[in-house]
Amino acid sequence: MKMVLLISAALLCTIAVAGSCAEQKSASVYKTSCAQCHGATGEADTPAGKAFNAQSLKSPDVLKMSDEELLDLTKKGKGKMPAWEGVLTDDQLKGVIAYIHTLQKGKS
Ligand code: HEC
Repeated sequence: MKMVLLISAALLCTIAVAGSCAEQKSASVYKTSCAQCHGATGEADTPAGKAFNAQSLKSPDVLKMSDEELLDLTKKGKGKMPAWEGVLTDDQLKGVIAYIHTLQKGKS
């Protein structure tokens, strides 16, 4: 009986993880490609962020941008930020933008 419970608990876990799989992928894309300059919290409080003069992704200017504007901007690059088109796919970038929104909503 205990075994059955353990197995069903393990199964439920797998389903729960699969559900948030896309989100986890976007989080890891952000951490690998963006966090170096924009910081784990999006506040650009990293040495590279400061050196390149990246502003916080939680700033009012960024908050008011639409998802299309953000996608366009990340694809083309801006100032010292490299263009991401060809490096990451549109889908990956859209996922990262969704992830940035979760950072924007989070406490600083
Ligand atoms: C090499 C450092 C670096 C990396 C890596 C980087 N960025 Fe940037 N990013 C910048 C800088 C610098 C700016 C500010 C550009 C400016 O205003 O001149 C910027 C600006 C932005 C902006 C617009 C905010 C603004 O200031 O107008 C967004 C959105 C953004 N980056 C998203 C991303 C995403 C998404 C990734 C990962 C796919 C990423 N960045 C990776 C350096 C970086």
